[in-house]
Amino acid sequence: MPTPSAKPSGSFSIGGDMPVTRLGFGAMRITGRGIWGNPADPEGARRTLRRIPELGIDFIDTADSYGPYVSEELIAETLYPYDNLIIATKGGLVRTGPDQWHQIGRPMYLRQQVHMSLRRLKLERLDLWQLHRIADDTPADEQFAEIASMQQEGLIRHIGLSEVSVDDIKGASRHFKVTTVQNRYNRDARGSDAVLDYCEANGIGFIPWAPLGSGGLARDGSKLEAVAKTYGATAGQIALAWLLKRSPVMLPIPGTGKVSHLEDNTAAASITLSDTDFAAIGG
Ligand SMILES: NC(=O)c1ccc[n+]([C@@H]2O[C@H](COP(=O)([O-])OP(=O)(O)OC[C@H]3O[C@@H](n4cnc5c(N)ncnc54)[C@H](OP(=O)(O)O)[C@@H]3O)[C@@H](O)[C@H]2O)c1
Repeated sequence: MPTPSAKPSGSFSIGGDMPVTRLGFGAMRITGRGIWGNPADPEGARRTLRRIPELGIDFIDTADSYGPYVSEELIAETLYPYDNLIIATKGGLVRTGPDQWHQIGRPMYLRQQVHMSLRRLKLERLDLWQLHRIADDTPADEQFAEIASMQQEGLIRHIGLSEVSVDDIKGASRHFKVTTVQNRYNRDARGSDAVLDYCEANGIGFIPWAPLGSGGLARDGSKLEAVAKTYGATAGQIALAWLLKRSPVMLPIPGTGKVSHLEDNTAAASITLSDTDFAAIGG
């Protein structure tokens, strides 16, 4: 079988000046159970990361809270100095144990986390830093103002948001240019359709997290299996091909800690769904 490539998924220019191949990689799954601690198979996670550039993927999504720190550290260990790779990270969530996530939006905390991501990733500027959540503990404008300051100081190149509404994007846009939005979205999770449409109309990259339904759309018995058979593909590949066709600003980041799954997911970039199949799957 030829080596799959992400390149046929096409390119999107984040912020108008930072092009990435649309099919990217989510680095949350290279950590331990509950996204806590080291992965069960650290060497497998390292192999997965090293395979990414060989498959034409140049956009990796991570966060300080994945592990915490484990994901960013593994990325730096295996891929620094990131030749032609864009590493997008996030801050704003703290961890108190496996599967436990808490929001903190205090400006000095956000600033510390940006500095710590810079240190772990061995960078002087983060290409894309995303506010993981707009936290309830601090007025949103104070969070946005601090992030805008960090951009003006050169610590951050582009700014993204995560799990936001159209009103949130408009509010943040009074402080800085919102270049990406990362919301949960897949064939079975369409709650952000209006946000996606807003992003498309405004040239904002839309990064759907859980593009495989956290694995459910890729498992045996997936409802996409029947269509998949007609393309000689897997259900997971059809889920990703559907996302890529849904919008030109769509930047899926399927997550895995396995080389074989990474390769399977990458092959989705070469699948073009017919308009009929696209509509039948979800329009
Ligand atoms: N902004 C946010 O709040 C937020 C929240 C969650 C996630 N994210 C980001 O979004 C990325 C993707 O989300 P996600 O990882 O939760 O969900 P996902 O990409 O929809 O699914 C990942 C799951 O599917 C499995 N999988 C991947 N490829 C597969 C394949 N070809 N065949 C069978 N199983 C496969 C993985 O297990 P294996 O490891 O065994 O392959 C993993 O359990 C994350 O990595 C992270 O970067 C962001």
